[in-house]
Amino acid sequence: MTRSAGPVPAGAPAAPAAPGAASADSHAASARAPRRLLIRTWGCQMNVYDSTRMAELLAPLGYAPTERAEEADMVILNTCHIREKASEKVFSDLGRLRDTKKERQAGGKETIIAVAGCVAQAEGAEITARAPWVDIVLGPQTYHRLPEMVARASRAAGAVIETDFPAEDKFDHLPEARASQGPVAFLTIQEGCDKFCSFCVVPYTRGAEFSRPAAAILAEARALAAGGAREIALLGQNVNAWAGEAPRTGQGASPEGNTWRLARLLRELADIPGVARLRYTTSHPRDMDDDLIAAHGEIPALMPYLHLPVQSGSDRVLAAMNRGHKADLYLRLADRLRAARPDLALTSDFIVGHPGETAADFDATMRLVERVGFAGAYSFKYSARPGTPAASQPGVVPEAEKDARLQTLQALLREQQDGFNRSCVGRTVEVLVTGPGRHPGQIAGRTPWLQPVHALGSGRPGDVVPMHLTAAHPNSLSATLAHEESAAA
Ligand code: 5AD
Ligand code: SF4
Repeated sequence: MTRSAGPVPAGAPAAPAAPGAASADSHAASARAPRRLLIRTWGCQMNVYDSTRMAELLAPLGYAPTERAEEADMVILNTCHIREKASEKVFSDLGRLRDTKKERQAGGKETIIAVAGCVAQAEGAEITARAPWVDIVLGPQTYHRLPEMVARASRAAGAVIETDFPAEDKFDHLPEARASQGPVAFLTIQEGCDKFCSFCVVPYTRGAEFSRPAAAILAEARALAAGGAREIALLGQNVNAWAGEAPRTGQGASPEGNTWRLARLLRELADIPGVARLRYTTSHPRDMDDDLIAAHGEIPALMPYLHLPVQSGSDRVLAAMNRGHKADLYLRLADRLRAARPDLALTSDFIVGHPGETAADFDATMRLVERVGFAGAYSFKYSARPGTPAASQPGVVPEAEKDARLQTLQALLREQQDGFNRSCVGRTVEVLVTGPGRHPGQIAGRTPWLQPVHALGSGRPGDVVPMHLTAAHPNSLSATLAHEESAAA
């Protein structure tokens, strides 16, 4: 498992909206020449979700998706600010888009360029100062105003900038019906973060923790399931901190009171017809409550896979990072989760070279990894983010030392991931078919542990079929269809 360094491949975002999602404006739109929309998405799955929703918002204005900048009437860069490299890429992409915009202009075609997401939120007006050909800058909390901003950008001479955190809830202003996204869908249930880890920009770019009400989430999940989604991944920067308003039943408060926690929500979601698989990401160790741990053993639809970032195995560094827990808490959580669900695969995020991290601290991280055993992980060199507390902490670790630590850590994590994948070979597991495979005659799918699978044979996207896993590759597994084997026998 590697975190993608570039834009998330196309396909996830930019799906045209279902007819039901169109607003009254769609009648006017259908009479206009079709317009093309290119969305490039960097960063986390929440950005992928936001991109999908922006495409849904713009579809009634006549925007259909494209992959090619030359034919795009509008380009949205949905950006990530989490590490330095991610934000730099935005500016190099903007440089190329300036040329495309000029070439299109010479041919009499206008292009609206929008920068969305966390770079937009963090850098705001600086973006238009550095790249005056940008027409719209919008933060993650304002994209529901996109259609209005597009209209203003077509009229205005300067750029339209909207990066405040408006009091209104953007979710209330998004189209209710969701377009079909295929068998795997994302659903944002929580946004923002109050944890203020020393190194992280999220509390500044995404704002304070906010939990969507349960009724809105259940309605969206039902719409997704009706549109063909079989697996729903609940998203939030701090998803297991979710504490949403309980649906009003008319029978007074439920036993839990007026607020549900995540375990209760998962139980309700599992009962929706068509929902075969549930996941949630990303979680904080401090918010793994007893009920949620128990839910892993009790809800069959909850997949045996949990992304639970620990960042470091050293108590000293965890304190400097303001993580609010010690390494021991993580070890105990891993044990309890595995006691509840013995086949649970854990994955994590790690940062090496946080200010003040010594060789002994790094060893403590290596020991934690050895002790837990991860099925996959994302690991990063610490990168100073302007305005975060760690950026001014003493004890900066030299770049060469960070490189060496990252290599050592990644070698161990790779070994563990390969070992996990190899341990699956020979087993028969349920695979969710996601579509055709890369080669003719192949289908692709994913296991309960999120491993991509390829098998010869046919199957409809959305089917959950037993497959016999035959070989492990660095980032995927080969399989045969179990029922074809038994038919041949
Ligand atoms: N430097 C390096 N990695 C970071 N992450 C967040 N901020 C930074 C930073 N300043 C990593 C953390 C987080 C993941 C999404 O990105 O590991 O869990
Ligand atoms: Fe960032 Fe920490 Fe919040 Fe995660 S928990 S989003 S790392 S501040």
